[in-house]
Amino acid sequence: MSLFDPFYRHIARPLFFQIDPEKIHDWMMAAIPKVRPLKPWIKKCFAVEDSRLQQQIWGLTFPNPLGLAGGFDKNAECADLWDLFGFGFVELGTVTPNPQPGNPRPRLFRFPARQALVNRMGFNNEGAQAIAARLRQNAENGWNFPGITGISIGKQFSTPVEQIDLVIADYMTCLEVLYPVADYFAVNISSPNTKNLRVLQQVESLDHLLSALLTYMKQRAGEGQRKPLCVKFAPDLDNEAIEAGVAIAMQRGIDGIIATNTTNQTGEVEQGGLSGAPLRKRATEVIRRIAKQTEGRLPIIGSGGVFTAEDAIEKFQAGAWVIQLYTGFVYNGPSCTKQIHRGLLEYMQAIGLQNLAQLRQTGAVSR
Ligand code: FNR
Repeated sequence: MSLFDPFYRHIARPLFFQIDPEKIHDWMMAAIPKVRPLKPWIKKCFAVEDSRLQQQIWGLTFPNPLGLAGGFDKNAECADLWDLFGFGFVELGTVTPNPQPGNPRPRLFRFPARQALVNRMGFNNEGAQAIAARLRQNAENGWNFPGITGISIGKQFSTPVEQIDLVIADYMTCLEVLYPVADYFAVNISSPNTKNLRVLQQVESLDHLLSALLTYMKQRAGEGQRKPLCVKFAPDLDNEAIEAGVAIAMQRGIDGIIATNTTNQTGEVEQGGLSGAPLRKRATEVIRRIAKQTEGRLPIIGSGGVFTAEDAIEKFQAGAWVIQLYTGFVYNGPSCTKQIHRGLLEYMQAIGLQNLAQLRQTGAVSR
C-alpha cells in the first residue's frame, strides 16, 4: 500500500466530502496545473512503468491500460498531466460544437454508502474551438501527454435529436475542429443527461450517424491521417439492442466500443446517471456480450465500477482491452491506479502471463 493511500482515505477524502462535489472537483482541476513543475516527483509516487502493462491498439502505444473516463476533464484543463496519477490514457470532454452551461446546479451527488455518484451535468463545456486551442497551446508549450488522448464528442443541448442531419452536423463539427489534437474519438450517444440523446442508439439513427462520421474518418485516413473512432453505449439498453447497435457499428467500420456509460436507474431521488460500484456488474456483462459477439477482435474500452485490481481483472477477463475510471478515482484517490497496476502485475505473475492480451484470453472460455 502506498503511504498516500491512508492519507487520502482518512484525511483528504473526509475533508473533501464535506464540500459540494462539483466545487471540490473544480478546485482540484484548477490546482493540478499548478503542480506541473513537480511533475517528475509526483509521477514517481503514483505511476507504475512496466512493459507488461503496455499495449499497441490501433497502432497507438498505450503505456498502461488505465484511463481517466469521459467527463472528468471536460475542458482539457489538465490534459497533459494525467500521467501524474498513473493514467495511460484520458478521454477529454464530452465536447460540443459551442460552449454550453449544462444543467442547473446542484447536479453532482455522492452516495458513499454505495460507493457511487449520481450526475446530471448535461455536457457543460467550453466548446470545441476553446478546447482545441488549449490543446494546441499545450503542444506549443511542450506540455505533451505521454499517454493517449481521446476526445469524447457530443451534440449541443439545443439540437433536436429528431433532426438527424443537424445532429450529424454537430458531431461532424467537433470532429473537424478537434481532429488534429486527438489520438482517438469517442462518440457519446449514451449520456442520460441530454434529453433524448440515447435515442441515437436506435439502429436507424445510429446507422445514419456512424455512416456519416466514419465516411469522414475514412476520408482523413485516405489523406494519411487515420484516427480511430469509438462509440459509447449505455448499460440500460437491453441485450438485443446492444447486439443490434454493435452489429451496425461494426458494419460501418467502427474501431472500438466503450462499454458502458452511467445508468439512468439511479435508485435515488436524484435523477441523472449513476456511476461506481452499483454499475460494475452490468457494465461487465455488457462487455462480455460485446466481446463474444465480436469474437474478441474489436477493441473494447471497459468502464463502470472499477475500484480495485480485482474489478479490473474482472473487466479484462470479460473482454476489455483497456479500462477507464471515474468514480473509483474520486473514492480511492490518486494512488488507486498504482494499486490496480500492482495488483494486475501480481496476478499476471502468479499465473504466468506475459501481457494483457493473455489476461483477456484467460476469460475467453467463459464468454
Ligand atoms: C460521467 N461520464 C461521462 N461519460 C462521457 O462519455 N461523457 C461525459 O461527459 C461524462 N460525464 C460524466 C460526469 C460525471 C460527474 C460522471 C460521474 C461520469 C461517465 C463516465 O465516463 C463513466 O463511463 C461512468 O462514470 C462509469 O465509470 P465509473 O465512474 O463507474 O468508473
